[in-house]
Amino acid sequence: MSRKIILDCDPGHDDALAIMLTVASPELELLGVTTTYGNVGLDDTTRNALQILELCGSHVPVYRGASLPLVRDRISAEFVHGKSGLEGPALPLPSRGAETTRAVDFIIQSVLENPHEVTLCPIGAMTNVATAMRLEPKIIPLIQEIVLMGGGTELGNWTPAAEFNILCDPHAAHIIFSSGANVTMFGLNVTHQALAMPQHIAAIRAGGNRTSLIAAELLEFFKVAYHQRYGYEGPALHDPCVIAYLIQPDLFKLEGMNVTVDISDGPSFGRTVCDIYNVLNLPENARVAMKVDADGYFDLIAKRLATLP
Ligand code: RIB
Ligand code: CA
Repeated sequence: MSRKIILDCDPGHDDALAIMLTVASPELELLGVTTTYGNVGLDDTTRNALQILELCGSHVPVYRGASLPLVRDRISAEFVHGKSGLEGPALPLPSRGAETTRAVDFIIQSVLENPHEVTLCPIGAMTNVATAMRLEPKIIPLIQEIVLMGGGTELGNWTPAAEFNILCDPHAAHIIFSSGANVTMFGLNVTHQALAMPQHIAAIRAGGNRTSLIAAELLEFFKVAYHQRYGYEGPALHDPCVIAYLIQPDLFKLEGMNVTVDISDGPSFGRTVCDIYNVLNLPENARVAMKVDADGYFDLIAKRLATLP
């Protein structure tokens, strides 16, 4: 039986490939896509999600979520993903719109109707999932797993301490990590092991189908920002790690540990403080990905995307 998931995203180039990989994976039943502000504003991330789903031939419903963080001001990543959030390939405007149901209500309703069977996959700001927990705390023990892209055990990518998704809304991330929910975290320490090198992009392009060609174009655009800002040869393919874990977990090595989110004012605001050596002897509240078989990861992506339209 396929695993029920809700993908909560802010497309975004790597979110786009996460959507593609999800649609291409019969192991997963995508109940819906919920969108959030993050890389760009909510209107753009929602349009982008609809465009990518249409490209993949998917009619999965899209639900609009938060346009702002819970407390702090909104930040965004136009200089990485471009003004639209999906610069690079020209994609037709979507022929359908988002649902009228709000993302938070869809998340709450889906979990209550499918107790212990829904995995939430936030790969942007964490505001939607945190708000759902606050509005209906009953869902917390009923969520099968929260598999998120965010944070990291080492440095940040938006400040020296904080990773972008967490920094978008550290208070939301704090709610999730302190909720008692079953959390699995894919942070920069592992996603930066998964740089889309030229050979990986070429293998995706070699699929030859429309979706693979668009994915390769997205990665070509994405890599410019990574080279300019970090000097990397290839862009870190963050978000699809969440989906690859769900369909081929043996690509990753995970360790259980205590993770807290720094919500104090100061230079480490938004940092995920990961107690790798358990020096504080606090209870484990997350499983943290520490290693990835990068070639196996990109091989999976190339093979799966080639099965799409
Ligand atoms: O820091 C990487 C994360 O921020 C990814 O999810 C990317 O899409 C951006 O949202
Ligand atoms: Ca994202």
